[in-house]
Amino acid sequence: MASDKTFYLTTPIYYVNDAPHIGHAYTTVAGDVLTRWHRQKGESVWFLTGTDEHGEKVMNTAAQNNVSPQEWCDKLVEEAWKPNWRDLNIANDDFIRTTEPRHQERVQKFLQGLKDKGFIYQGKYEGPYCIGCEEFKLPGDLDEGKCKVHGRPVEMLSEENWFFKLSAFVPQLIERYKSHPEACEPTSARNEVLAFLESKEGVSDLSISRSTFDWGIPVPWDTDQVIYVWFDALLNYATAVGLGDAPDSEGGKKFAQTWPADVHLVGKDILRFHAVIWPAMLMAAELPVPGKVFAHGWLLVGGEKMSKSKLTGIAPSDITSHFGVDAFRYYFLRAIPFGSDGSFSWEDMSARYTSELANDFGNLASRLIAMIEKYCDGKIPAVATDAGLSGLLTETVAKADAAICALDFQGGITAIMDFCKRANGYVTEKEPWAIAKDPARNQELFDVLYNTAECVRALAVLLHPIMPATTETLWAALGAQATLGSIALQKVADIATWGTLPADSVVTKGAVLFPRLEEKQ
Ligand code: ME8
Ligand code: MG
Repeated sequence: MASDKTFYLTTPIYYVNDAPHIGHAYTTVAGDVLTRWHRQKGESVWFLTGTDEHGEKVMNTAAQNNVSPQEWCDKLVEEAWKPNWRDLNIANDDFIRTTEPRHQERVQKFLQGLKDKGFIYQGKYEGPYCIGCEEFKLPGDLDEGKCKVHGRPVEMLSEENWFFKLSAFVPQLIERYKSHPEACEPTSARNEVLAFLESKEGVSDLSISRSTFDWGIPVPWDTDQVIYVWFDALLNYATAVGLGDAPDSEGGKKFAQTWPADVHLVGKDILRFHAVIWPAMLMAAELPVPGKVFAHGWLLVGGEKMSKSKLTGIAPSDITSHFGVDAFRYYFLRAIPFGSDGSFSWEDMSARYTSELANDFGNLASRLIAMIEKYCDGKIPAVATDAGLSGLLTETVAKADAAICALDFQGGITAIMDFCKRANGYVTEKEPWAIAKDPARNQELFDVLYNTAECVRALAVLLHPIMPATTETLWAALGAQATLGSIALQKVADIATWGTLPADSVVTKGAVLFPRLEEKQ
């Protein structure tokens, strides 16, 4: 792999049968935080999200709303999905829709390629299908004839379809996950995938076309059939970066620069598609497989997976209107170990908002700025040092960097917030307001305030990927925007360099970063 390869991260492309809920936001925010972190490491980064628009589920929803599937998708994408990501401050580099020509053309070409190589054959599919999952089901996936995920009866299909020789790739897949444990995480996900690959029933070949409806990409050599929605959807990760384009074309160069994806971020509901079917498709095409599939846990409501179909979906705006966008971005990654399930609780979120964001972080920043205004004429004093704080900062940056790059967001944020607590402790112990009463101790006062300012400067940069807007406000209030430039350009490798915030940076009292909750209503 070339050392200048772009760090390429994807989210699932979400079904547009309904508006986004906080489960979708959970994945996309995690992807946004990780890619912002890598950008701050100075890496070239590509972050893709998008929408999955074909298949029976979306087609049926459009019919229920008396519009064509394309009209329905256009409306949902423009009025619900794209605005939702803008509101949550998601900095994706591209947004792919599976109805776009760039996707459809490359999917057809890819499928034709697999057929030419002998991996596609005609056969009959007979068996259960869940439209909610858009998935061919195995007997073990059902409970009294109902899909275990959706609790609804499945359809019985009997169709002449095209099949992909998925089973031929089982030994190669097993070998891949045995020799590259990092290719599927967390460990529980990898174990599940290996158990499935090694199971007695074995992995059977996959029907990759449907003939009973037409909302999909036509099979190039048999246009009475449309390509199975998952086969179409998985390819988005590669079509979006130029799959199959000539090497010297724009698409071909982009592909060489980004492929294979470094991380496919998914929920555990769609792990098998990503860890079994998708790499097998790539292996068949002799393309490199992704570096990592990471399957995070579910947000639960009443102990069950929050979902659109069960009407338990909470809209992100229900939470951001009360707590603000940055607290939303912070909360889920802070509260739930990435990989485990977690229940959303309004009380827990209120408690963390108040103790961690308003009291620990917000107060530290506002106390500092108030004291710089009061005791230093609003200018950051001369550079000072504190060996304890600076040593702890070095450790904190190393810990946070290692944890976040390993997708342990909770570990990373905890390390950062522990440093924030220590900085608060430093101010409490030094009592600058008491020192200020004695003019003979001016130098001591300035040193304490400089050291505190350095802590706040470092915290702003460390928390920027997680809470971009609030930390930008703080950056401007510290005067750092004018002296150090944009916060997004501050590098992870420089955060621990003590003395970075220049003396004489002019602070300004800005808005309160995390207002008390009752004031917000
Ligand atoms: O599966 N908790 O789309 P989808 C956590 N189109 N994450 C959740 C969640 C919850 N309760 N609910 C949804 C599809 N998610 C396909 C994907 S990719 C080639 C095609 C998140 O709209 C999580 O990332 O059903 C999950 O995997 C995804 O949304 C499913 O979104
Ligand atoms: Mg789903």
